[in-house]
Amino acid sequence: MMAKTTLGIFGLGTVGTGVVALLRDNPQFEIRAIAIRDRHKPRELELANIELTDDPFKLADHPDIEMLVEVAGGIDPAYEVIKRAISNGKHIVTANKELIAKHGPELFALANEHKVTIFFEAAVGGGIPLISTLQRGLQANRIARVAGIVNGTTNYILTKMEREQQSFADALREAQAAGYAEADPTDDVEGRDVVYKISILSSLAFQVPIEVEKIYRQGITQITDLDIKLANEFGYRIKMIGLAQPGEDNEQALDVRVHPMLVPRHHPLASVEGVNNAIFIKGSAVGEIMLYGPGAGRFPTASAVVGDIINIASALKLPDFAQYFQLPIRSEACEIFPIADTTNAYYIRLETHDTPGVIGTLGHAFGEHGVSLHSVTQKGVNSEGTATIVLLTHRVKEKQVQAALTQISAQATTKQIGVVLRVLI
Ligand code: HSE
Repeated sequence: MMAKTTLGIFGLGTVGTGVVALLRDNPQFEIRAIAIRDRHKPRELELANIELTDDPFKLADHPDIEMLVEVAGGIDPAYEVIKRAISNGKHIVTANKELIAKHGPELFALANEHKVTIFFEAAVGGGIPLISTLQRGLQANRIARVAGIVNGTTNYILTKMEREQQSFADALREAQAAGYAEADPTDDVEGRDVVYKISILSSLAFQVPIEVEKIYRQGITQITDLDIKLANEFGYRIKMIGLAQPGEDNEQALDVRVHPMLVPRHHPLASVEGVNNAIFIKGSAVGEIMLYGPGAGRFPTASAVVGDIINIASALKLPDFAQYFQLPIRSEACEIFPIADTTNAYYIRLETHDTPGVIGTLGHAFGEHGVSLHSVTQKGVNSEGTATIVLLTHRVKEKQVQAALTQISAQATTKQIGVVLRVLI
């Protein structure tokens, strides 16, 4: 009989439980040990014959484990555990987006040194085979754009706000109750989760390390159901987007950012609803493609993790196979285009006094800074005399819009700049 591949699993939460359930009856694998935080917690699975430990370093040092599967998440202690396991010659499968986004290049270098591999299909897009598509399937292409809805929680919130006219707070509460949000939902709603994911996708698409702290980020907390309704009226849906593309007038730099966008209703990303994820890629040879599917959840994510385990196990039979899986990523980090230098069309919602000349004053400020307006619409006046004015601009440099808005904030007729959103073109 063929020797089984031996595994250690670090983490037995939602994803870990799915991984164990998928692997338990597979004769090709043997789960030698599982590291869990609380050994006394009741488990859904029968774990007889599997060694349980509350010390994940035991897996990293275990002489009978060939592959460490990390589904615990976070940096501490996953980072140190994985480094130790690599140094001990173990292959790694991880679902940890934060770890790969922050420490990927260093871990890949360590893995190369020790002739082992790190697979991380589940780190972005849950069950969607996205990493392998970028790493292998699209190698013939120069990538012109990656635009993704890669956070299920924010897409669920925005869908609820649109479909059921819910407020942001109510929709967030429902997303948390349904178990979609991260332990700290600010990582979802403020865009940090998307920053990790787009940094991983862009480093694969453009073959450069990306420093996560350089990625511009805007969350969805300022978006109201009125914005969603107005965007609909103008022919758009609001979506939280992770975007990566070559810099417009500086091809050496990458334009990587995370923010909500108005997506034209005819764009494939506009039809992505609820907790689903979708990644739109434009390649020089393939043209436009979109990968779509469940971006989170027990079995979709476990599907990606177990796919990685099976792929490594088959490759283990080849001599010196790890060298074939080295990522073709340059060592020096890439310059990221500052948001002020990006070019976009904008949706701007302002609250102003309802007095003569307000629209003229606004138009004047935008005109002075070279911002060409596509439309200006007043959406009524409330009982306190506040007018809501919505402007759509043509494509223009962000710094010009910001300069106009600074001037507008200082005008006596302006009460508040409600929200500024970019439009996906
Ligand atoms: N909180 C994440 C999401 C889970 O909402 O997509 C998957 O990474």
